[in-house]
Amino acid sequence: MQQPMSFQALERFQRPRNYGPLDRWDGHARITGPCGDTMEFWLQIAEGRIVQASFVTSGCGPSRAAGSMATELAVGRLLVEAARLEQRDVLRALGGLPPESEHCALLAANTLKAAIADYETRPRIAPRCGETSEAL
Ligand code: FES
Repeated sequence: MQQPMSFQALERFQRPRNYGPLDRWDGHARITGPCGDTMEFWLQIAEGRIVQASFVTSGCGPSRAAGSMATELAVGRLLVEAARLEQRDVLRALGGLPPESEHCALLAANTLKAAIADYETRPRIAPRCGETSEAL
């Protein structure tokens, strides 16, 4: 018998938070997992902190729940902290996923990391006095 989804996971599967691209973003990534599904993340970053995050996925319900939770965990964190978020953190925050869907949380964590890496490798205009740096 399949393990049922937790309340937190089921709720985000049905009503994912932060779903859809951001109009303005500083970091972006799109990853296709081994299952063939794709996840995409957008990040808005200010002073080294993630101020907004969003995602879309072509994947299953658990991937919607995992992408949602990964964005929720990322917002408000310093980049160095967000880059340390792992599959297990997403799973823990969701109250677990059925074993056959745990890889969906890995796809979410990896896409978040890739969006952070994208931000970190983008060239930026050096800030003038009193301004924050902007991606070119
Ligand atoms: Fe592919 Fe969930 S992301 S099965």
